[in-house]
Amino acid sequence: MTTEPLPPSATVPDPAGVRPAIRAVPAYPFTPVDVPIKLDQNESPYDFPADLKALATARMLARPWNRYPDLHAETLGARIAAYENWDPAGVVVTPGSNVLIKLLTELAGIGQTVLTVSPTFSVYTLEAQLLGARLVQVPLQADFSLPVADLQKALRENPPGVLYITEPHAPTGHVDTEAAVREVVEAAGDWVVVLDEAYHQYSGTDYRALVRAGENRLSLRTLSKAWGLAGLRLGYALASPRLAAHLRKLVPAFNVGVLAETALEVALEHPGYVQERAAEVQRERERLFAALRDHPTWRVLPSRSNFYLLRTPDAEAAYRHLLSHGIVVRRQDRLPGLEGCLRVAVGTPAENDALIEAAWAFR
Ligand SMILES: Cc1ncc(COP(=O)(O)O)c(C=O)c1O
Repeated sequence: MTTEPLPPSATVPDPAGVRPAIRAVPAYPFTPVDVPIKLDQNESPYDFPADLKALATARMLARPWNRYPDLHAETLGARIAAYENWDPAGVVVTPGSNVLIKLLTELAGIGQTVLTVSPTFSVYTLEAQLLGARLVQVPLQADFSLPVADLQKALRENPPGVLYITEPHAPTGHVDTEAAVREVVEAAGDWVVVLDEAYHQYSGTDYRALVRAGENRLSLRTLSKAWGLAGLRLGYALASPRLAAHLRKLVPAFNVGVLAETALEVALEHPGYVQERAAEVQRERERLFAALRDHPTWRVLPSRSNFYLLRTPDAEAAYRHLLSHGIVVRRQDRLPGLEGCLRVAVGTPAENDALIEAAWAFR
């Protein structure tokens, strides 16, 4: 996504019809950087396997492109349901899970409350601000674990809305104990509770059982990370049929195209590569941590995801240094509690070697 600079308001006034909330919020902060080693978006460093890509392409050619796809990707939803062992009536598919975050904020946040932690995934707070929800953020504990008692208090003291919990957490990669997550979720009463599990294949965590136990709960999953399909734009929610039916009312009709649908069909028929690659990420993550442990000035923070934070004395200097070695990472140093931090995705072994070498060359 590119971000166009907004025209200076002093010289070009905003059209009065644009809602003040939209005018007040800066555009999503992301500028693409063209360098050989791209570790800034937590993607899989590997493309969809070439043989599966060929199979998907052949099927795409055989399908009619002049016809609309399913109204709400029902056929694909049923295949996802079979893969996830979920009731098909509880699966909602959209072009990326970011879209679901917007829809969930529409479902339960507008005019109500969006509750999350701080720091957190920026899309939760961005959508709350754009859609005019009351945003409540509770600081994480010093070790980035869930502030269970403070969240329970916030759940009691604010009018209900939507609660976002991310496991593993973004942008820290921290994983909470199941007991801590359960204590928060079970205190949520009438709130809509979202467990964002975008990175769960890397941590080995799985909250389907907890989600299944409550009509107000939902797991958010994406094809953009462990499945290596970020370019397709697909994500889904696993919810109760009742909650899914309400959510589906907000999903624009025909919003998953036949090409993406076909590619995911093929992926779901051959899911073996996902676990293999996730296991490689876990091995590489531990290798990176060991290689960076004794760095004189950069400190690697524990993570169970496919990314980790590097705490540096000067994030700008560290970011520029890595860039000069052909590596782009993501600055996170303006977020509360993340002073000096860069977020780095786990890449291929060769990319990780380059990162380690560049880190040690920093003076
Ligand atoms: C925690 C979290 N949730 C959701 C997403 C959105 O993924 P997508 O819209 O690609 O499905 C991301 C992407 O970075 C993420 O980090």
